[in-house]
Amino acid sequence: MLGVSGGIAAYKSCELVRELRRRGAMVRVMMTSRAQEFVTPMTFAALSEQPVLTNIFPEGRSAAIEHIDWSRWPEVIVLCPATANLLAKLAQGFADDPVSATVRAARVPLVLCPAMNSAMWEDALVQRNVTLLKETGYQFVDPEFGALATTQEGEGWGRLARLDWILSGILAALQKQKPLAGKKILVTAGRTEEYLDPVRMMTNPSTGRMGFALAEAARALGGRVTLISGPTNLTPPYDIELVPVVSAAEMAAAAQKHYPATDILAMAAAVSDYRPHTMAPEKMKKSAASFQLELERTVDILATLGEQKNRALHIGFAVETENELENAKDKLRRKRLDLIVLNNPRHDGVGFAVETNRVTLIDRNGQVQELELMSKLAVAFKIFERALKLN
Ligand code: CTP
Repeated sequence: MLGVSGGIAAYKSCELVRELRRRGAMVRVMMTSRAQEFVTPMTFAALSEQPVLTNIFPEGRSAAIEHIDWSRWPEVIVLCPATANLLAKLAQGFADDPVSATVRAARVPLVLCPAMNSAMWEDALVQRNVTLLKETGYQFVDPEFGALATTQEGEGWGRLARLDWILSGILAALQKQKPLAGKKILVTAGRTEEYLDPVRMMTNPSTGRMGFALAEAARALGGRVTLISGPTNLTPPYDIELVPVVSAAEMAAAAQKHYPATDILAMAAAVSDYRPHTMAPEKMKKSAASFQLELERTVDILATLGEQKNRALHIGFAVETENELENAKDKLRRKRLDLIVLNNPRHDGVGFAVETNRVTLIDRNGQVQELELMSKLAVAFKIFERALKLN
């Protein structure tokens, strides 16, 4: 259930409804009267295909019933945008509009996404209310620094968090069980790039989606996540330590640095197995009709960490196009893994740059579990579910 209060960022919550629905959620919207000055209830009714709650005392119904009925409907309530006024009301226990009354009566997790002018966000009383609400257990997706609605003021803190971050906040709030609480999860993602000269490199088409999904799922399950990622166009994830790297050597160094504190290692990166033996300091000029490039092996990060393995659980990935199970099992043994995630890029909906994946999980005891085609995020949850059973 989305509660909209009266700020200019209300227009962004229209897009949030669409994104939630695109991910399969049912959404209902409730609005304060001020919110209705920014966006009409009709907009939300059309986007959600559900009734919109606009009045605490709707005509023709008993006032006592409506917000109570509504408060029983959702699994999570998201207040987006949450204005300074709404924060103040919630912090003081008010229940005098459809949003605050429903929130008061609900017993489900609440995610607050404040958005306001930076001077208002920095105001001492607003901050006191935020602290009070956080201490009460309400979850926040804090505003970002960036361009504000009033152009003459330029940039500041108070801009509504990007949609992807709000979606992460909702995902985490929906996860009632937090089996990774107190655990450190190290995830690698994406491709590496190995330069031959300043303007040319060897790489592969990995976009980082599977690794980012693992990071997101691990956070939603309560883990503290470090994500080492090769070059990617994906939005940096919310509340996750991102370590950007370029080459396999940089990824190996970053993994080595973060490994000692790690409880679960999930190595989803498509690391280059070879790199040019030397990198030319200047752009190479073409000359002969053919050209030979000498390559050398990169460090096998997973195998190296496997040799140092002590208490951490290791999850590896394998892309195989023949003798899939056999090759994957062999890789699991060689790299001393607890779980290996086998991809077969020949299946439809599998591989690089798609949002879905179909994988087979093989654990250290030889148990094989074939998963259906599902979103990479759903695959990520399945991987942790399975890994936790091994712990
Ligand atoms: N991996 C790694 N370091 C490398 C190469 C791969 O840590 N230099 C990791 C990948 O992140 C993945 C797993 O090892 O989790 C499997 O990688 P893959 O390239 O499929 O396997 P290889 O061991 O390289 O075997 P082969 O190339 O023979 O298939």
